[in-house]
Amino acid sequence: MNIIHPVSGFSAAQLIDKLAHTRGQLRALTACLPADAWLGPRAEHLNPPLWEAGHIVWFQERWCLRARPDGSFAPSLLAGADALYDSSTVAHASRWNLSLLEPAAVEDYAARVSAAVAARLRAAFNDDLAYFAELCLVHELMHIEAWRMAFQNLGYAAPAQSRPQRTLPQHTERLAFAESEVTLGSGPDAGFIFDNEKWRHAVAGPVSETDYAAFVDAGGYPRSAGWSEAGRAWRTASGATHPMYWRKHQGAWQVRRFADWAPLNPHAPMLHINRFEAEACAAWMGRRLPSAAQWLRATQHANFAWGAGWEWMRNAFAPYPGFSADPYRDYSQPWFHSHAELRGGGPFTDPLLKRPGFRNFYLPHRRDPFAGFRTVSPA
Ligand SMILES: [Fe+2]
Repeated sequence: MNIIHPVSGFSAAQLIDKLAHTRGQLRALTACLPADAWLGPRAEHLNPPLWEAGHIVWFQERWCLRARPDGSFAPSLLAGADALYDSSTVAHASRWNLSLLEPAAVEDYAARVSAAVAARLRAAFNDDLAYFAELCLVHELMHIEAWRMAFQNLGYAAPAQSRPQRTLPQHTERLAFAESEVTLGSGPDAGFIFDNEKWRHAVAGPVSETDYAAFVDAGGYPRSAGWSEAGRAWRTASGATHPMYWRKHQGAWQVRRFADWAPLNPHAPMLHINRFEAEACAAWMGRRLPSAAQWLRATQHANFAWGAGWEWMRNAFAPYPGFSADPYRDYSQPWFHSHAELRGGGPFTDPLLKRPGFRNFYLPHRRDPFAGFRTVSPA
């Protein structure tokens, strides 16, 4: 295969439309930021929203307007833009100290870049430009999901359109279920079957909030079994005894959804736990996390429901054989092996990124993503 820049086949008009629609989503979130939240607290898992807004525009300009065939970049419309917004070179901890553009100036920069990108898509459309426009589109969508993670993390009121269906999907009657398990494969009662159907085995549905509460209430956090060495180190350092957005209220667990507290929901997927917590709970259940290969195979089954939350995989995020970095060189490469892989997509993931093949990745201690897990039998 010699496809360097694979594209989805969107036309120039479709890309212009999708970019504008996505920018509308970003603006709707900006409008919901509490007063004085443009910088927000300093934390490893957050970015100042004011920086992020400028960075999104900078990224689009860099790849759709400035990139030259020889790998160099033409000057930005904004003097000094690279020194402010290049995520590869501007250290994370320094982003709160920069002389960032004011919101109105970011808007102005955004308007100029959007107009120029649309003009270029109309005038000089080709596969390379389509690739970079789509790269910028999904980049912006990923930042939008990160903003929703921050809204949840900081307890801000839910932004508009933030109350998606959180209920775990109901399975159809065609499959046999034990509790929330989907059965894959065939048994000896099926008549003639091929080798690749043998044997029937269970693939659990996502672990729900109340499933997870059973682990917490059984003393799952302080117990020593089931936690990896790294997991135990995290537990000690963090002092965690329950999920980060939970509290006990009059003897019962409650979960915070943006700014509001609610009782646990047996039909809601357990979200906002890190990979160590997922791994320990799975072990307590006598099971383990699925590998990406197992998960991917399950998605080929018509009745395997996914997409209610990101799902932690058992494997680390690692390159496939023959990997070579695409033009956005720092998208994957710096994060291989240290990060864990997630699949599926969460309640705020755009449909464009809800593909079985899409590999998300986070450091295993991150609890702010909309991530949960399902388990597979250890056999
Ligand atoms: Fe980015």
